[in-house]
Amino acid sequence: MSKPKRPVATGDPWPPLPYPAGWFCLGLASELKPGTVLTRTFMGSDVVLYRTERGVVRAVEPHCPHLGAHLGSGGRIVGENIQCPFHAFEYDPDGTCVRVPDSEPLKKLSLTQWTIREVNGLLMVWYAPDGAAPYWEIPQVDPQGFHRVQLHSKHVSSHPQELYENTVDYRHFSVVHAVPLEEIAPPETDGPFLRVHTKVPIARIPGVGNIWVGQTVLIAGLGYLVAEIDFPRLGVTVRSWALFTATDVWETDIRLLACCAVAGPLKRVPRPVQALIARLLAKAVVFKIGKVLDEDNVIWKSKRYMHQPHLAQGDKAVGIYRHHVRQFYPSETTGQEVSL
Ligand code: FES
Ligand SMILES: [Fe+2]
Repeated sequence: MSKPKRPVATGDPWPPLPYPAGWFCLGLASELKPGTVLTRTFMGSDVVLYRTERGVVRAVEPHCPHLGAHLGSGGRIVGENIQCPFHAFEYDPDGTCVRVPDSEPLKKLSLTQWTIREVNGLLMVWYAPDGAAPYWEIPQVDPQGFHRVQLHSKHVSSHPQELYENTVDYRHFSVVHAVPLEEIAPPETDGPFLRVHTKVPIARIPGVGNIWVGQTVLIAGLGYLVAEIDFPRLGVTVRSWALFTATDVWETDIRLLACCAVAGPLKRVPRPVQALIARLLAKAVVFKIGKVLDEDNVIWKSKRYMHQPHLAQGDKAVGIYRHHVRQFYPSETTGQEVSL
């Protein structure tokens, strides 16, 4: 497969961050049924996603190499091929032109393809500034026991790196969200993965204080975050995702997902009731995370990205994060120095 390139954003005295390498979510697999063609905006231009009748998923550059029609604007699936809406040329899943009405197929024509994977029902597209093939994968999570995922989406004028930095910026939680989040252990880095271990208060008992629960967060690249919180007394585990995808320079689509597994006493209620409880809880979780991000967005929409922040005591996790994310950019654009 060929690997499209995207421009690196550079420029003014406060240059925006470039697009990072990694996997980015362009939708849910359930949005792309067999025979469906969808258009998504990704890093400044359109990407066309489609699924063939047999279920093969592809992501391609939108414009037909014949005379430039947009495949997402009336293109359709014919068996295993995508057919252009302009002159009905057809392209197979390898991107090769395999059918031209009334003449021989022009096999030298081909669609430029993006690498796409379905991971736990997410459509993840790979991007690398130098066009490199994927050199790491999003780890699958075990869906066993979890009920259906709930989705909440929004758009913010910011960059995925800035958004994920919130996870390690412990200091802002008590100020912006009025929640005293605490670190259990320093963030662990492992190649493109960053694991963050924190605890959050879920209730306050007068005279006793806060009741805390631990949460483990995995951030893979700068497009995928999955978190898990156990509530053993309730017999509930909540798994949530925050997926950030750059649609343009400093513009990001946010997809929030959550699902719940129930155990303990809740297991005794009829399964449809369990499923309903799990769905409602998951909906409440994504709604709550959405509200939290609205609080963050008050800051994001007017803040400036500091390439060289001045970190205070207690900001060490931010320094670890800033160092970690350098790997996702071309080396000449990663002049992000931090003083710890
Ligand atoms: S522009 Fe696509 S077939 Fe002519
Ligand atoms: Fe936040």
